Order: sequence, then C-alpha cells, then structure tokens
Amino acid sequence: MAKQNMEVRRVAGSLGADVFGVDLSQDVGNQVYDDIHQAFLDHQVLFIRDQNLTPPQQADFARRFGPLNEYPFVKGLENAPEIIEIVKEPDETINFGGVWHSDTTYLDDPPLGTVLYALEVPPAGGDTMYANMYDAYDALSDGMKRMLSSLVGISSAALRRSGGRAKGIGKDSTMTPLNMDKAEAIMAEHPVVRTHPETGRKALYVNSAHTVSFKGMTEAESKPLIEFLCTHATRPEFTCRFKWEVGTLAIWDNRCVQHFAINDYHGERRRMHRATITGDRPH
Ligand code: SIN
Repeated sequence: MAKQNMEVRRVAGSLGADVFGVDLSQDVGNQVYDDIHQAFLDHQVLFIRDQNLTPPQQADFARRFGPLNEYPFVKGLENAPEIIEIVKEPDETINFGGVWHSDTTYLDDPPLGTVLYALEVPPAGGDTMYANMYDAYDALSDGMKRMLSSLVGISSAALRRSGGRAKGIGKDSTMTPLNMDKAEAIMAEHPVVRTHPETGRKALYVNSAHTVSFKGMTEAESKPLIEFLCTHATRPEFTCRFKWEVGTLAIWDNRCVQHFAINDYHGERRRMHRATITGDRPH
C-alpha cells in the first residue's frame, strides 16, 4: 500500500475541491479512503489530479464507495463492463450529458455517485459544471419548501435531451447505443426534496433532463414549477466549473449535485471513462 499525502483545496464558494497527493493506481488503504470519502461528503465533487488509471483500476476505486451499476443506454468496455467510454469526435456535434442533470434519476435506485476520468481533452473547452442542490434547497422560501415537501417528481428516460439517449440519436455517434427502444418504459418516482442518507441534509432533486412531471399533476401543470426549480437550482452562486486535464478523475455525489457537460469544442476530440456507483432509493 502506497504512502499518500492528500491535500484538499476548495475551488469555489458553494462546492468542489481539488485533491492532490493521492495515487489511485495503488491500493488505497482504509485511512486514505476514509479521508477521500469525508472530503466527498464535505465538498460534493472532488477533482483528483494526476492519475494514471486502467479501466479496472478506476472501477476498483469506484467500488470502494459501493457496488457499480451499468448505464442502461451505452455498452460498457470489454475489460470493465461497468465503465462506459464517453467520446465526442471532431466531426460530431452532440455531446453526452450536455444539459443540467443528476444521473439516471429515472431509475428506482439512482446512482449515489459518478466517477469520471479524463483520457483526452480539447485544448480549450469541454469543461463540466456542477451545482450544489443543498444550497439550492436552502435558498428557497419557507413557503416553497412547505409546498415541495409533499411533492413527488416523475423522471423518465424518454426525454431525448441528455446522456446516451441524445448521443444515440446522433447519426455518427461513436458510442455503442443499447436499449434505445426501452427508454419510454423506464420511469421512477422520487421525492422532490430528498434527505441525503449520509449527511442528513435536504437537497433539491428535480432536473431538466429527466423530470417530466409531478405525481398527480399533468405535464402542462408541472412544467412551470419544474422550470422555476431547474433555473433556481443552477444559479451561478451554487455552481463551480471544472477545466479538465488528462489524468484528472472526478467523483461527484448525485444525491446532492447536478452537472452539465459544456458542448463548446466542436472540431476537437474529448474522451472520458465513466463509472456509476449504485445508490439507494431517495427518501
Ligand atoms: C455525464 O453527464 O456524466 C458526462 C459529464 C462530462 O462528460 O463532463
């Protein structure tokens, strides 16, 4: 087991921290894992710099947080099926994850977290933004909090705005799509305000990629409030923006974070490996 000298540096007022001095290709001992886990809970998204990881090593690190799940709409790698390759080629225009969202909220047990590793990045552009859903919830009025407390959001995989669904419809997508015909049927109901199982804090849990309506309301009735909440949730003061370097591994907490992959690098290649960690049912 390698000696590790971890240093955590906050990158923005609301969320996000850089992590230096850990080598995830070595066996990460319990003390180092505990420190990373605590930093993950404290900062919601970590950018762990200067890594050199194979897909199985990335999967092993992600598995320290819990069992991995397989993304339903893109085929995994041969040597690490729980990892998908997210790639945008110079001649492609649609990117993966180019809308604010929390990952796959249309699943009954949506992922606790996502581990994304940068293999090729454009010279400029291709940053990812993150937004803190604890802060978004805390900033709402008491009246709005009261109203949201009994609302249940319905998420659907059918919205073609993000992720594998959006890439899958791209004519020249280099990612291998799966299950595109099943998306209409994949839906889940979750509280609009969820309580984080580890920190006990309340977080807003509505996103513009997957939330289609509120239970007991029509889509038309739900839309204005979904739009208000999604705009509110991504106010600049709740966000941070990360410029990738090859070898950075990010891990974010989908239970209290939304993210957005910025699509501003047409003509350049960007290639990432992504693993998602199985979560529990939101309460
Ligand atoms: C995603 O939505 O998981 C992709 C994020 C990114 O590529 O920056």
